[in-house]
Amino acid sequence: MGELAPSILAADFNRLGEQIKEVGNTGTRYLHIDVMDGLFVPSISFGMPLIESIRKESDMFFDVHLMINEPVRYISDFAKSGADGITVHKEACAGLKETLSGIKRLGLKPSVSINPETPVQEIEDVLDMVYMVLVMSVHPGFGGQKFIPSSLEKVCWLKEKREEKGLSYKIEIDGGVNKNNISEIAGNGVDIIVAGTAVFNGNITENISILREVL
Ligand code: DX5
Ligand code: ZN
Repeated sequence: MGELAPSILAADFNRLGEQIKEVGNTGTRYLHIDVMDGLFVPSISFGMPLIESIRKESDMFFDVHLMINEPVRYISDFAKSGADGITVHKEACAGLKETLSGIKRLGLKPSVSINPETPVQEIEDVLDMVYMVLVMSVHPGFGGQKFIPSSLEKVCWLKEKREEKGLSYKIEIDGGVNKNNISEIAGNGVDIIVAGTAVFNGNITENISILREVL
């Protein structure tokens, strides 16, 4: 069974606390938090102070997705601010293994992400180190883009490898998920499904219950 991870990038920041509370009241376990540096991706979102302040009011799993160059520079700051898991991009790390083991040493769940143009085989050597693999199904940087269908081929490969190697990492997909395609995505065996616009645009509680119907 898949789980939904609402991405606060699409929230109304003027009412962020309220909206996170509303998400929490639906029984959602994962909250997806997108951090962007304006270098690895063209846009800038938010950072540690925001996470620290929402941490006080939420006990959901903070799934922090770092879209920043050389994230190793900041992992201890994100740990202090209240992240439960940190996802780093393969494309952004000179030393991916060191970065993932650094996250683990801080007591957090380490995860790896790949952009749509990166072959999934490139992360085979870290699969035994990660809590989760995040497959980007849009080009990272912005919410509200269209789902790239070939991402599901990566999901299939990751499922096969997990079985073959006897591992237990979770498979997460991020970008372009909506009420029309979530059923197909979940049907492919994705464990955690990120949704920004589809959750925060309109009535949050209603959106979550519609998206969850097929999970
Ligand atoms: C994109 C972010 C996503 C984004 C998804 O760079 O990583 O998490 O918030 O937004 P939607 O669900 O609107 O595509
Ligand atoms: Zn994300």
